[in-house]
Amino acid sequence: MMQTAYRTAYGPPEVLTVRDVPVPEPGAGEILVRVHAATVNRTDCGALWGKPYVFRFFVGWPRPREVATGTDFAGEVVATGPDVTQFSVGDRVMGFHDHNLGSHAQYLRVSVRRAIARIPDGVGFETAAASMEGAHYARNFLDRMPLRPGDRVLVYGATGAIGSAAIALLKHAGAQVTAVCAEPHRDAVAALGADRVLDYTRAPFTEQLRGETFVAVLDAVGKSRFSACRPLLGENGIYASSELGPRGENIFLALAAPAMRGPKVRFPIPTDIARSLELVVPLLAQGAFRPLIDRRYALADIRQAFAYVASGQKIGNVILTLA
Ligand SMILES: NC(=O)c1ccc[n+]([C@@H]2O[C@H](COP(=O)([O-])OP(=O)(O)OC[C@H]3O[C@@H](n4cnc5c(N)ncnc54)[C@H](OP(=O)(O)O)[C@@H]3O)[C@@H](O)[C@H]2O)c1
Repeated sequence: MMQTAYRTAYGPPEVLTVRDVPVPEPGAGEILVRVHAATVNRTDCGALWGKPYVFRFFVGWPRPREVATGTDFAGEVVATGPDVTQFSVGDRVMGFHDHNLGSHAQYLRVSVRRAIARIPDGVGFETAAASMEGAHYARNFLDRMPLRPGDRVLVYGATGAIGSAAIALLKHAGAQVTAVCAEPHRDAVAALGADRVLDYTRAPFTEQLRGETFVAVLDAVGKSRFSACRPLLGENGIYASSELGPRGENIFLALAAPAMRGPKVRFPIPTDIARSLELVVPLLAQGAFRPLIDRRYALADIRQAFAYVASGQKIGNVILTLA
């Protein structure tokens, strides 16, 4: 038997319980992973609440396809099904799927067609688990920002899972990073490699930076607007936000971008998780990507973990320990 997060309907953390269920058997093309760590992240919140509603078409309609929440995992392969040649028992692996895997469980049966990578030697399970969700979205944003070494980029929401990962990936790309966060998190953000850190609680960052220009502004927390950031962007500048914006304006501005003069909005639909892992895993191995980890929760406390993550105040990544 194993312990798993369990729910049969969408709703707040109260719909979740922890139950004992049989350990699944891997089928053809599947591996069984003993999960050591996963994160509880904002994508998980979408899969728990079933919001936005359209997300239910990907994670299950009218009720969740998987009883367990959980989009990412780091653990050890303990069994392989027929036809599996890519992985062997004993491999340390990490993986992510933004449409919910059911990885908030002690064991996870997962198809090898999913984006799964070997965890580099010397990298712990918690670090591996915290290196996927935010990094995947950050990579998608950065791919839509043609950058050259030395380009100046602003990251607002630098403490979040996406923002903190973006800083590391931008530094890897050679960008000059100005990061915006609240004063208590200044040191954590500076430690990620940001060249300059601004406190948005002192004054709006758009005021503090008046007269300066950036090649790109990434609002990784979705709290700004293109109209407010436009003066900070050069002629060919790019604005990207992790949220749709008021009345979904970021979608419309991105669609209108080809017809617009001056700075443009990009709103990428995140794709290609395997490509994100191909970027991040070698950086993890080199010690060039160190995810920001906030709190750790045991599976028994998963409701509290979700409540904290849904507050919008977590710093980087929240770990669920399952070992
Ligand atoms: N577009 C997509 O595909 C996609 C995918 C996943 C998530 N999202 C969305 O992207 C956003 C970020 O996700 P995440 O997981 O990176 O976030 P997160 O980790 O929950 O971000 C939390 C951080 O945001 C900062 N913050 C909170 N309110 C703020 C404000 N008013 N101004 C500036 N910073 C503020 C806080 O740090 P400070 O106290 O230091 O400011 C906090 O540490 C969420 O809205 C999420 O729903 C979008």
